[in-house]
Amino acid sequence: MDKILVTGGCGYIGSHTIVDLVQNGYEVICADNNSRSNEAILNGVEKIISKKIKNYKVDLCIYDDTYAIFQENPDIKGIIHFAAYKAVGESVEKPLLYFQNNLDSLINILKCAEEFKVPHFVFSSSCTVYGNPDTVIVTEETPQKPAESPYGATKQMGELIVNETVKNISLSAILLRYFNPVGAHPSIHIGELPLGKPANLVPAITQTAIGKIPMMNVFGTDYDTRDGSCVRDYIHVCDIAHAHTLALNYLVEAKNTAKCEVFNLGSGNGYTVLEAIASFEKVSGVKLNYQLGPRRPGDVVAIYANNSKARTGLGWDPRYTLDEMMDSAWKWELKLKTEKI
Ligand code: WQD
Repeated sequence: MDKILVTGGCGYIGSHTIVDLVQNGYEVICADNNSRSNEAILNGVEKIISKKIKNYKVDLCIYDDTYAIFQENPDIKGIIHFAAYKAVGESVEKPLLYFQNNLDSLINILKCAEEFKVPHFVFSSSCTVYGNPDTVIVTEETPQKPAESPYGATKQMGELIVNETVKNISLSAILLRYFNPVGAHPSIHIGELPLGKPANLVPAITQTAIGKIPMMNVFGTDYDTRDGSCVRDYIHVCDIAHAHTLALNYLVEAKNTAKCEVFNLGSGNGYTVLEAIASFEKVSGVKLNYQLGPRRPGDVVAIYANNSKARTGLGWDPRYTLDEMMDSAWKWELKLKTEKI
C-alpha cells in the first residue's frame, strides 16, 4: 500500500480525507501539532476505519522536526498538505502570523519532498484565491482578483510556490480549490470542531439551533441576489475528501498532463444564506433564531463553481444534497452535546 503523509490530518477536511484514503487502500500517517485541532478526532477516524493512525505532533515550521518525519518514513509516496491557519478574520488582525505559519510550513514540506524524492503532492487551496471575481460561476481559468484577506493571500502565494517548485524537481502536484465545505461524516464519528465562536455559516446555524449561541445574524439581505442574501457553493466534506483520493490516484496513475494542475471542488450549485437556513429548518425541524443584520465586510456577493474539470479529469461526482449536508451537520452538533469529543 502506498504510504501517504496527511498534514493537518486532525482538522475538519484532513480527518475526513484520512478516512477516505484508508477506505481506498492507502496507508496513512498524520502530522498535526494540534495548535488549531484536537487529536481526539483520530479516535473517531479509528472507529470508522478500525485502524490506528499515527500522528506526529510536529510544528511543520520547524524544518528539523519536519525532516525527522521523512527520515522515519522514507517510503512516503504522497503528501496531502492541509496544515495551515484558516480563520479569515484572525488573518486580518494577525497577518504576519498567517504568512509565517502557512508559508514556512509549506516550504519545509516541499523541501523535504524534494530531499526524499516524494513523487506526489496535493495542496489544500480555496475558492478564496479568486478574490471578488467578475463572474459568479468560476472556472479554474477565471482570473484571480486580489485576495480579500491575508488568509486568502497565503493560498494564492501557496499555489504559486507549489507551481514554481515542481517545475525543477521530480514532484507532481495538484491544487484543490474548495468552495464551502460543510456537513459531517455519515457515521457521525467525525465532523467539524470549530474553535471558539464560529465564523462560518453552518456551524453558526447548528450552534444557534442547539442553544450554544442565543441568536445568529444573517450578514446582509440587500444584495442583488434572489432573496438579498449572499450566494455560496456548499459542498459536503465527504465529497471534498473523496476528491483528494481521486487526485492522488490521478497522480499515482500518471494521468496528469502537467506538473501542476488545478481543480475546483464545488457542488456547482449556488444557494443563498436564507435558502441554507430554510434547508436546515426543514431537515432538523428546528425554527432557527436569527436576525437580518448588516453586511459583513469582505464578503463576496455570489460565487459558485464550474466543477466540470474535476468531474471529467478526476472522475469526481459530488453526490450530497444541501439537505443531506445540513442533516449531517445537525446530527454531529447533537452528538457533540451528548458526548465529550
Ligand atoms: C458564508 C455566507 C456570510 C456566518 C469562508 C472562507 C473561505 C473558505 C470557506 C477556507 C456568507 C454568511 C456566515 C453567519 C452569515 N474557508 N454568514 N452569518 O465567507 O463564504 O468562506 O469559508 O478556505 O476561504 O472565506 O464562508 O461560512 O463564513 O459565510 O450570514 O453567522 O454565510 O456572510 O455570505 P465564506 P462563511
